[in-house]
Amino acid sequence: MRSMKHLAGILPALVLAACLDQAPENGPTAPMEVAALASARGAAIAHSMCASCHGADLKGGAVDDVECPSLVVARSYSLAEFDALLTTGVARDGISTNGYMTVTHTLSPTDRANVHQYLKTYDDQ
Ligand code: HEC
Repeated sequence: MRSMKHLAGILPALVLAACLDQAPENGPTAPMEVAALASARGAAIAHSMCASCHGADLKGGAVDDVECPSLVVARSYSLAEFDALLTTGVARDGISTNGYMTVTHTLSPTDRANVHQYLKTYDDQ
């Protein structure tokens, strides 16, 4: 009788332990992990593809005589606005990037989303 009581006491802990054990299996599909992976890939793309014009740290740069803003401006872009900019070169406010952003047309939809994910948390301070 005594040992049964004891068992009942630890049962919830055992169940919890079993659940926690399975957590890593669920890991890759957990939203937080997906976001972190997307952001990491987005960072790699941004710092290679965008840095030539927007500056080494994406803090702003220039191409020819045209100033390119810090990519902190993209933080408030929705994914749809960001997609439009990267595929047409026309910014949210209708300003054209004058053909300078044609290289970004080569990004897949997934990679555009990855870069967007990264820039949502990008801070140039
Ligand atoms: C070959 C140069 C070049 C590359 C590479 C480039 N851009 Fe740009 N980008 C520009 C120019 C030029 C502008 C417009 C500057 C202006 O006239 O205001 C611009 C503007 C922008 C803006 C500002 C839009 C606004 O709201 O004003 C964002 C955001 C942006 N680029 C994102 C990116 C991202 C993300 C990448 C990489 C995936 C990238 N750019 C790669 C040249 C470039």
